[in-house]
Amino acid sequence: MQTMFLKVDPHQPNPRIIEIAAAMIRNGEVVAFPTETVYGVGADALSERAVGRIFAAKDRPMDNPLLLHVDSWEQAAELVYPVSDEALVLVKRFWPGPLTFVARARGEVPEIVRSGLPTVGLRMPDHQVALDLIRASGRPIAATSANKSGHPSPIKAEHVKHDLEGRISAIIDGGETGWGIESTIIDIAILRVGAVSWERLNQALPGMIVLPSTGESLGRAASAQDNLGQQLVPFAHGAVFPARLKKDLEGGRRIGMVIMTEHDLPAELDYVRFIRGGSREYARTLYDIFRAAVSHQVDVLYMEMPPEDGLGIAVADRIMKSSGDSQG
Ligand code: TXA
Ligand code: MG
Repeated sequence: MQTMFLKVDPHQPNPRIIEIAAAMIRNGEVVAFPTETVYGVGADALSERAVGRIFAAKDRPMDNPLLLHVDSWEQAAELVYPVSDEALVLVKRFWPGPLTFVARARGEVPEIVRSGLPTVGLRMPDHQVALDLIRASGRPIAATSANKSGHPSPIKAEHVKHDLEGRISAIIDGGETGWGIESTIIDIAILRVGAVSWERLNQALPGMIVLPSTGESLGRAASAQDNLGQQLVPFAHGAVFPARLKKDLEGGRRIGMVIMTEHDLPAELDYVRFIRGGSREYARTLYDIFRAAVSHQVDVLYMEMPPEDGLGIAVADRIMKSSGDSQG
């Protein structure tokens, strides 16, 4: 393979030259480019074949995941499940820049990028050439340091040439990189919400803990109730019963009800459970309730959601997962 050399001004890269490289990215080819840390070598993150070529060019073991390089937080946010406000504080503070966030990947991120991990590293480089390339190619770029596997990361285009010439389509030469060492990578996400509340974790490590939103944490534990054959209908904390309750009652279905706040209960319920002790009691009894409703032969179990704080977050997560009403 002939490797094309493209020289650009690192601060004001010529858009026509960037476009040559961007077209290669769109075409599934592999291109090396400068970032503020070290040179990266990347390809269209959404194309499995293109990403495979990065591994081949570097002789990189397939079990070593790549990082997603994006031109904005908005682009990153489409590729991962929501992160906490606290993580966003770090994004605001350090992006663009050499702080890589590990977050839970959505299905759109091909497995090859993350070597089968449920998470993926997100990075917005603080370098005009890298940003222009990502922008011009119109997609996230999966990239890694532009060295042969086992070699030091390249800080000059000559290093990249030495390691990868003949193995990739192009090298964009933007001079020496700034930092010379790779980005910091942080991974402090809650993968499954549970008994230790986010508030407690956040007290221990203020602003550092990434909280998945309801129903989007890992762990299928509570979805075991899928097999119990009853349908869950969650409704918001403090809200009136969902409209479908009337129909379910008229249709002669066996109805269960779990409530936390004051409600006028219809007489025909087959199973009722009051949660008076807040989310802590809800958490303690949730799985018991699932089973009890089954033994009462409930067809539809209406569940009032807990307030979304403390243990309520974990309870809400389990209810949403069990109701089959989440993308998690
Ligand atoms: O500054 C940088 O981060 C440079 C420039 C090019 O962006 N990139 C870079 O990529 O250093 P690489 O592939 O050489 O190093 C990324 C490291 C690897 O050790 C990889 O195993 C780790 O990040 N990594 C990638 N995805 C991960 C994940 N989901 N969880 C934990 N570690 C991950
Ligand atoms: Mg590396």
